Amino acid sequence: MKPLGAIILLLVTIDKCHSANILAISPFGGKSHYIIIERLLKTLAARGHEVDTVSHFPTKHPTPRYNDISVRGLLPLMQNNLTLDKVQEMSILECLQLVAKIAGVEPCKAVLNSKVAQYLKNTTKKYDLLITHYFGTNCMLGFGHLFSVPTVAVITSPSLPWISPAIGLPDNPAYIPNIFTSFLPKMSIGERVWNTVAYVLSIISFELFSNKQCNTIAKQFFGPQLPDLDDLLNNISLVLVNSHFSINQARPAVPNFVEVAGLHIDENTTLTKHFERSLNTDEEGIIYLSFGSMVMTESFNKEVLRAFFNTFKNLPYKVLWKASPEKFPSDLQPPSNIQFESWMPQMEILCHPNVKLFVSHGGMLGTSEAIYCGVPILGIPIFGDQVFNIRRYVEKEIAIEMPYKEINEEKLTAAIKSLLYNPKYKFNMKKVSELFKDRPASALETAIYWIEYVIKYQGAPHLRSIAADLSWSLGRYHSAKVGPEEKSLRITYNFWEPIDYRSS
Ligand SMILES: *[C@@H]1O[C@H](CO)[C@@H](O)[C@H](O)[C@H]1NC(C)=O
Ligand SMILES: *[C@@H]1O[C@H](CO)[C@@H](O)[C@H](O)[C@H]1NC(C)=O
Ligand SMILES: *[C@@H]1O[C@H](CO)[C@@H](O)[C@H](O)[C@H]1NC(C)=O
Ligand SMILES: *[C@@H]1O[C@H](CO)[C@@H](O)[C@H](O)[C@H]1NC(C)=O
Repeated sequence: MKPLGAIILLLVTIDKCHSANILAISPFGGKSHYIIIERLLKTLAARGHEVDTVSHFPTKHPTPRYNDISVRGLLPLMQNNLTLDKVQEMSILECLQLVAKIAGVEPCKAVLNSKVAQYLKNTTKKYDLLITHYFGTNCMLGFGHLFSVPTVAVITSPSLPWISPAIGLPDNPAYIPNIFTSFLPKMSIGERVWNTVAYVLSIISFELFSNKQCNTIAKQFFGPQLPDLDDLLNNISLVLVNSHFSINQARPAVPNFVEVAGLHIDENTTLTKHFERSLNTDEEGIIYLSFGSMVMTESFNKEVLRAFFNTFKNLPYKVLWKASPEKFPSDLQPPSNIQFESWMPQMEILCHPNVKLFVSHGGMLGTSEAIYCGVPILGIPIFGDQVFNIRRYVEKEIAIEMPYKEINEEKLTAAIKSLLYNPKYKFNMKKVSELFKDRPASALETAIYWIEYVIKYQGAPHLRSIAADLSWSLGRYHSAKVGPEEKSLRITYNFWEPIDYRSS
C-alpha cells in the first residue's frame, strides 16, 4: 500500500473510532423545548456522530448524519395555538398534574405505542448513547436499558425537583426555590416552609400522576423484566440543565449535573436582506415583541391589544411584533409604526444594535437570548416557568414584570418608558450579559464535552454521587426491590482499576 493511502485509511479509521451512534428521543411536543435540543444534536452530527432523532419536529434543514425519525402527528403540538383562555390561573397541584399529563403520561403512551418504538425494539443497530429530553416522564429511559447504553437527560427548563434525589443533587428547599413556585432564593421563613411543601408535593405528584402510569406503560412495551423507571433514572449518567448561575442562582451540584443555559444560542448567523431592511429605522430604535412559539398574541383580550396599540402609537420607536395581523379583531387598527411578521430570526434581531427592548412572556429561550444580546425585558409571564424566570430578572433590575391581568395603557406606557429611558436597566443588563457569556467554554461546547466524556468512559459512573443511592421513592423501598439479578445490572463504582505502575 502506498504511504498516502495508508495515511488516509488510518485517518478514516480513527474517525470511525471516535464517532458514536447516538439515539435521541424527545417525546414532548413543545417546539421551543425542541429548538434547544436540535442545536445540540446537529452539532453532535457535525462532529461525526451518527444521530438518530425521534421527535415531533423533523428538521427543515437536513444535515449529514442527523437522521430524523418522526413521531409527528401522534400528539397535539403546542405550537402557535395556545390561546390565553386555556391558560387560566392554576394552583401548584394543577400545574403539576398538567405537566404529568401533557409532558408525562401522554407522550409516554403515544411514543411507546408508535411504529417508531416498534422499529427501535426490532432494530439490530447498536447504539452507544441515549439522549432524551427530560420533562414529565421517565418512560424513554427504557430505551437506554433496551440498548444497554448510558443515558443523558436534557432538561430544557431550570432543574426539575424529581430528578434531584435520583442523582443525589443537593436541592435544599431552604434556599433553592422550587420551579413551581416563583420565589427568589432569599426566602422568608414562611416562603421556605411553603417551598418545602412544594418540593415534597412535586415529588409525590410526579410519582402518583406520571411515574406510576408510565411504569405500567413501559413494562407493557419493554417487557416485565424492565427495571422500575425510578431505578433507570437512578442509573442516569449525565443531566444537562437549562440554567446558569449568572441568571439563576449559585447552587451546589454533583459532577454529572451540568448547567448549559444558552445551549441554543448561535452567534454565527446573519440576517436576511428582508430583516436587515426591517431593522433600519429613522425612529429612536426598535421594540421587539414576541411571545414565543406556543402562545398566540392574537388571542389576547381586545382591551389588552388596544392598550398595546395605543402605547406603541405614542412612542418614537418602531415595533416588530410576531403575529399574523389578520387574526386580530377587525375593529382594532394597529398604528403604522408596528410591523407584523409571522416568524422572525429572534436571536439576530435581539443582537441588532437598533433593538432597545424585548417584550416577552419570559420563556427561557427568548430571555436567555435577550440576556446574551444585552436587551432589557418587559416580561408578561403567561404560564410554566415564566414567572419564575421573570422574577429573577426583576431582582437583577434587567426587567420589569407586568402581569397580564393588570395591563392597561397607562401602566404599559410607564413600564416601557422606564425600560427605555432609565439607563439602569441597560447598564445592569450589559453586566449580566457579560457574566452570562464569560465561561471557560460556551454552553454548546460544554454540553458536547460532557456528552463525549460519557461516551468515552462508558457512562462515566465515577461522576455519580453515592448520595444518589440514598434516594427515597414512593410506594417502595429501594433496597427491598432490587433483587440479586437487578443488582448485577447496576453500575459498579470501581470503574478505575488501580494502575500498578511498577509492573509496566
Ligand atoms: C393545537 O392544534 C392541534 C391541531 O390543530 C389540536 O389538536 C390541539 O388540541 C391544539 N392544542 C391546543 C393546546 O389548543
Ligand atoms: C421486526 O422484525 C421482523 C423480523 O426481522 C420483521 O418481520 C417485522 O416486520 C419487524 N417489525 C417491525 C415493526 O419493524
Ligand atoms: C463563527 O465564525 C467564525 C468565522 O467564520 C469562526 O472562526 C468561528 O469558529 C465560528 N464560531 C462558531 C461557534 O461556529
Ligand atoms: C446503567 O447504565 C449503564 C451505563 O452507564 C448501562 O450499561 C446499564 O445497562 C444501565 N443499567 C440498566 C439497568 O439499564
